[in-house]
Amino acid sequence: ENISKYQLQYASKYPHFPHLYKRETHTIQASKDSSKDDSPNLFYVFFLIIIIILQCISVADLKTPQGLAGYSCKKLELVTVDDFVFSGLHAGNTSNLIKAAVTPAFTAQFPGVNGLGISIARLDLAVGGVVPMHTHPDSSEIIVVIQGIIDAGFVSSANKVYFKTLKTGDIMVFPQGLLHFQINAGTTPALAYVSFSSPSPGVQILDFALFGNDLPSNIIEETTFLDDAQVKKLKGVLGGTG
Ligand SMILES: *[C@@H]1O[C@H](CO)[C@@H](O)[C@H](O)[C@H]1NC(C)=O
Repeated sequence: ENISKYQLQYASKYPHFPHLYKRETHTIQASKDSSKDDSPNLFYVFFLIIIIILQCISVADLKTPQGLAGYSCKKLELVTVDDFVFSGLHAGNTSNLIKAAVTPAFTAQFPGVNGLGISIARLDLAVGGVVPMHTHPDSSEIIVVIQGIIDAGFVSSANKVYFKTLKTGDIMVFPQGLLHFQINAGTTPALAYVSFSSPSPGVQILDFALFGNDLPSNIIEETTFLDDAQVKKLKGVLGGTG
């Protein structure tokens, strides 16, 4: 009974926007599920038990080492209201290459969100500031613009572009795993808050993944069709070698 419910949720994770995600993903999941048909799925039973055993449902204890399942829990008698309050969402320093600063309130900064499937960050964009094309593989994101004008958008895995100039008070959602960006489109600094459907959303920034490491230039050229001069120039700007 519980297991079939779980499978149903898994299969219908994105019922409203199936077109944003490539078919292959669904096909792989479908063939995995259909091979099991209606018979009890021992893999899921095992998986659920592991999750129940390992998942922390309380405040993260940042002083203990992080294990496979994330942080261990703080002893309940030591938890206070201050574990659920965070006062650190101050303006970040935007004196950097991208003229932008993200100040996170993720599990590492705000242990109270541990295990709750939610977190938030502050986004400061100086004039000309940009959060380059990036993805959070495990998390959807929602932005609310507090001050200024922000060009924001994402690209579906079918390469359709969803792009809009957001005004103060507008919100926009970026579905899980899809490449997206934010740019200050105004002539004053912009401020926004971004919340996530994960307490520790990972991030991968496309430009840094390509040009900010030691992946050999010839491999980048072969996989992106960029020429050597462009690749070397971008590696120079973004700190890559090779
Ligand atoms: C902001 O960062 C720049 C560059 O790293 C640094 O020079 C400057 O002192 C920082 N400003 C503040 C207020 O921390």
